[in-house]
Amino acid sequence: EEGITVGELAEKIGQTPANVIKVLFVLGTMVTINSSLDDEQVELICLEYGYETKKKVVVSEINFEEIEIVDDEADLTSRPPVVTIMGHVDHGKTTLLDSIRKSKVVDGEFGGITQHIGAYQVDVNGKKVTFLDTPGHEAFTAMRARGAQVTDIVIIVVAADDGVMPQTKEAVDHALAARVPIVVAVNKIDKEGADPERIKGEMSEIGLMPEEWGGETIYCNISAKQGTGIDELLETLTVVAELADLKANPKRYAYGTVVEGRLDKGRGPVATLLVENGTLRSGDPIVVGTAFGRVRQMLSDNGREIKHAGPSTPVEITGLNEVPVAGDKFMAFETEKMARHVGEERQKVKQVKDRGMNSAMSLDDLFNQI
Ligand code: GTP
Ligand code: MG
Repeated sequence: EEGITVGELAEKIGQTPANVIKVLFVLGTMVTINSSLDDEQVELICLEYGYETKKKVVVSEINFEEIEIVDDEADLTSRPPVVTIMGHVDHGKTTLLDSIRKSKVVDGEFGGITQHIGAYQVDVNGKKVTFLDTPGHEAFTAMRARGAQVTDIVIIVVAADDGVMPQTKEAVDHALAARVPIVVAVNKIDKEGADPERIKGEMSEIGLMPEEWGGETIYCNISAKQGTGIDELLETLTVVAELADLKANPKRYAYGTVVEGRLDKGRGPVATLLVENGTLRSGDPIVVGTAFGRVRQMLSDNGREIKHAGPSTPVEITGLNEVPVAGDKFMAFETEKMARHVGEERQKVKQVKDRGMNSAMSLDDLFNQI
């Protein structure tokens, strides 16, 4: 069976045949306008020009940098919300996260809270919610700086005995700019001098009018330390998530964002990934930023080894050839060869960019190097 030719593919994706030939040359293959391409070559070309392929048919637009994918409507299923907790120093973000985990992770199960991977998932009455931890806050900022966005809901934690502080305002600005639903957790209501009503007033002044005052923002009064109001907060999150009607396609190859990357002495480069769409499987060839490899070991947020991870799942993986950074995108591929090609090409492009050349020159520069 003959595949699509260079000329045919070029026409389909609105590129000149010369450009398609050039891209394949950069990737190490010599072709002519009449050469027929195999599936892998078609996928690489499509990836290069921002298209996604599905069984030889170009079905949708994708850009690896921006991760905008149009999936088949029929393949979409509900996915858990990704929630980022933000707020001023010492207002109780970490205590809130601990409290949520304590109330949801059964003691003794998988050894309780065994590991901290910067992102984790809890079960709220049978519905999963994914949280990005404090490093997630950094990732959130890094991702925003790159124009990417992974969070579906933001919780702003503000201490009832302290009120709106500079980082509270900053967090609110971030969340508003991201155009995601915001839930305000007024924390430390157990403390003397705590005045949740005053907090509502201060927060209204920076753009978050409470629902009960005619605004749109939901407020929850909590004590992260004593565990007060945590269940209500979690239930609120599931309601907000349901309204947002979040969907993903577990059938496709996975893509998502790096939450954390680090070098482990024994295990090599370790990356905490948030699978945004698709299903990541152990053994999958993968490109993460400019790193590539195969998913060797995959751990869930409770440190248990898992074989596959669907949309909105945070995982820790090994098997990469270098350490990625927070905010990097990752994508899984069908073959290791393809992952290697893409990874190496991205490395070259990065090298060219690092040398201070503009991206318009980079392809020519690559071309000349070979
Ligand atoms: P950074 O990570 O430094 O930005 O701080 P954080 O927002 O994570 O605050 P953290 O959870 O570390 O809490 C700061 C302090 O406030 C700790 O001493 C907590 O024990 C205390 N704290 C947090 N929540 C509550 C609460 O609901 N009530 C009381 N009384 N203290 C709390
Ligand atoms: Mg903290």
